[in-house]
Amino acid sequence: MTVLPTIRPAASRDASALRALALDNGLFAPEEMGDFDEMLAGFLDGSLDGHSWVVAVDDRDTVAGGAYVAPEPFSDRVWNLYFLAVRLGLQRDGVGGALVDFVETALRRRGEPVARVLIVETSSTGAYAQARAFYEKQGFDEEARIREFYGPGDDKVVYWKALSTPASGS
Ligand SMILES: CC(C)(COP(=O)(O)OP(=O)(O)OC[C@H]1O[C@@H](n2cnc3c(N)ncnc32)[C@H](O)[C@@H]1OP(=O)(O)O)[C@@H](O)C(=O)NCCC(=O)NCCS
Repeated sequence: MTVLPTIRPAASRDASALRALALDNGLFAPEEMGDFDEMLAGFLDGSLDGHSWVVAVDDRDTVAGGAYVAPEPFSDRVWNLYFLAVRLGLQRDGVGGALVDFVETALRRRGEPVARVLIVETSSTGAYAQARAFYEKQGFDEEARIREFYGPGDDKVVYWKALSTPASGS
């Protein structure tokens, strides 16, 4: 995909493509897909305020990537980019960047409650070096590491980005 994709809200018809993104990229194991389906269902039935699933599609409406962002509970207007993946074979072609730009623009434009900060969590292992390079390129700062969070030798790395200026503003 050399032309930048169209980004639109996800719909029920995208569920199988989104599940394939999660599985094919190794982000979810088959036995974890129940949790994935729950994250998606809460958005699709409209019951979760502030939650947003979006998909990047080509000119035939085929899904190239997807992202999910939602408010972080027990925080002051912090949103978490809980899911981001681009189809194998289409990576490193701007789709992930377009998805993150879209999500950030939508969060910056939303009304009350204002989104102040966007965080994203990933792994410290070599398998996620590409994701870490990507978030740094997208302007996120590495904010924290929780040692051994995902397993022995596998830390959680938290990236942070201000959405409103100043980040402490309302
Ligand atoms: C991480 C991911 C979403 C990025 O999406 P993408 O469409 O591949 O990324 P983009 O093409 O928009 O990349 C933008 C920048 O990120 C960085 N980047 C992306 N892939 C990279 C790689 N393999 N190595 C180094 N830098 C990389 C580069 O700086 C790149 O800019 P450049 O191509 O001009 O150098 C995608 O690669 C992916 O789905 N990976 C597997 C799933 C995953 O790890 N998701 C994140 C879980 S936390």
